[in-house]
Amino acid sequence: MFSLLRRPRALRQLRLNSSDASTYSPRRERWITPTMVLLGFVPIFTLGLGTWQLQRLQWKVNLIDELEEKLQLPPLSLPKRINLSVIPEFVFRKVFLRGRYDHAHSMLAGPSTREGVHGAHVLTPLIREDGSTIIVDRGFISKDLDLQSVPQDTSEVEITGMLRTSQERNTFTPDNHPERGEWYWKDLDAMAEYAGGANANVQPVLVEEIFEGHEGEATARIAKGIPVGRPARVDLRNAHLSYVITWYTLSLFTAVMFVRVLFNKKKIRGRAMPR
Ligand SMILES: *[C@@H]1O[C@H](CO)[C@@H](O)[C@H](O)[C@H]1NC(C)=O
Repeated sequence: MFSLLRRPRALRQLRLNSSDASTYSPRRERWITPTMVLLGFVPIFTLGLGTWQLQRLQWKVNLIDELEEKLQLPPLSLPKRINLSVIPEFVFRKVFLRGRYDHAHSMLAGPSTREGVHGAHVLTPLIREDGSTIIVDRGFISKDLDLQSVPQDTSEVEITGMLRTSQERNTFTPDNHPERGEWYWKDLDAMAEYAGGANANVQPVLVEEIFEGHEGEATARIAKGIPVGRPARVDLRNAHLSYVITWYTLSLFTAVMFVRVLFNKKKIRGRAMPR
């Protein structure tokens, strides 16, 4: 568009200067090139992305606050038949459970790390006193141990935990292989199926056991192969702040670059002007 607008003047100039070819400057005022448009667009685009991430950050902070509040409510006791469609509403609610572990169907899900130690999580179906079974993530054991070395308590246990949903898997998460005892992500439907499924009255419901003890206690448990649960905290990933910083920094740098290139172009053009 610009070149169209400018042409008449260039033509005029061509005619004016036709007597002296050496002073003719056809590139006059042509700093708006596709490259410059692109260079000018990058800071605006990254500024937009930064602002979008800022909004996501706000949303995430609110969500975490909301869940933290939920976590403060007194523990619920789960009904015999849990309505699965209501679970999302109750995520991060504390629950109280009583029952016996079905150790034969324990699962090791990982890898996972805790305080720099590599290991995995032990998930065991809990046969509740009302007969219905759910899955309990009992916590972390070190990678030096396997399921056989985890003490198999057959007495009745009482557990306080947090209601959770299936883990989100990303592109890099491998497939689970239940037949080989390999679980890379907590896929509740598959885990409930592995534990006996609906026929055995197993519901795809996950509770993460809460461990409130101090670190010395945790270390002692890990040494004995007793799974260590997690603190009652909302552990949602919140990386939005680092994205905000990255995009805004990029926007600033590309803006500076654009201005510098623009300035240089003008200077060069100035120099090339006929004296
Ligand atoms: C489960 O809860 C939803 C939402 O409250 C309700 O619409 C549905 O009827 C319930 N299902 C059962 C089987 O109770």
